[in-house]
Amino acid sequence: MLHKPFSPACERNRDAILAVLREHFADRRRVLEIGSGTGQHAVHFAAALPQLVWQTSDVPDNLSGIRLWLGEARQPNTPPPLSFDINGAPPEGEFDAVFSANTLHIMGWSEVQRLFALLPGLMRPGALLTIYGPFNYGGAFTSASNAAFDASLRAAQPQRGIRDFEAVDALADGAGLSLVDDRAMPANNRCVTWRRSA
Ligand SMILES: C[S@@+](CC[C@H](N)C(=O)[O-])C[C@H]1O[C@@H](n2cnc3c(N)ncnc32)[C@H](O)[C@@H]1O
Repeated sequence: MLHKPFSPACERNRDAILAVLREHFADRRRVLEIGSGTGQHAVHFAAALPQLVWQTSDVPDNLSGIRLWLGEARQPNTPPPLSFDINGAPPEGEFDAVFSANTLHIMGWSEVQRLFALLPGLMRPGALLTIYGPFNYGGAFTSASNAAFDASLRAAQPQRGIRDFEAVDALADGAGLSLVDDRAMPANNRCVTWRRSA
């Protein structure tokens, strides 16, 4: 029997993220979430922002768990999750916002590069990208806890690790996205939003 996956971190960070999304996604309609994980964020954000169609996606192994969360919530604005591995073909269609939480330090750097290379094909002109998670600035960790987290990530998988904000912003620039907002979040995380030029 399938067990519904559960992420305690999602329960802790969802309302702080929602406050940012309420601001930036107020006039959005179709959101693509990349690396939806359990699906908990999707259920929470789609309920609070009913004007949005919140399209979840993740690697195939995570889709059954997301389906359980979406199926239980029975919300009209959460279509079935899409299978989307950054290393494979992107989903069809264009979105007016893309959201991803806690994914850039899990993907290898070449996958982060590919993610940004795919974005122009997924985002219509004027679309927003919001990324939540930890970042380094000026080549330095922002806290001792982030340094310890980075060490644990790299010990488990050498290609993982907290990304430099400046390097990610350069990828965004290369994809035609301009920085709109870089917001401090609880527990030494950030919520960063870029806009594709119209
Ligand atoms: C730490 S989890 C975060 C999940 C969720 N967004 C959250 O905040 O709880 C990292 C997520 O990145 C996804 N991910 C990792 N590599 C990926 C790839 N190559 N393509 C798409 N998603 C990927 C994982 O499947 C997982 O759902």
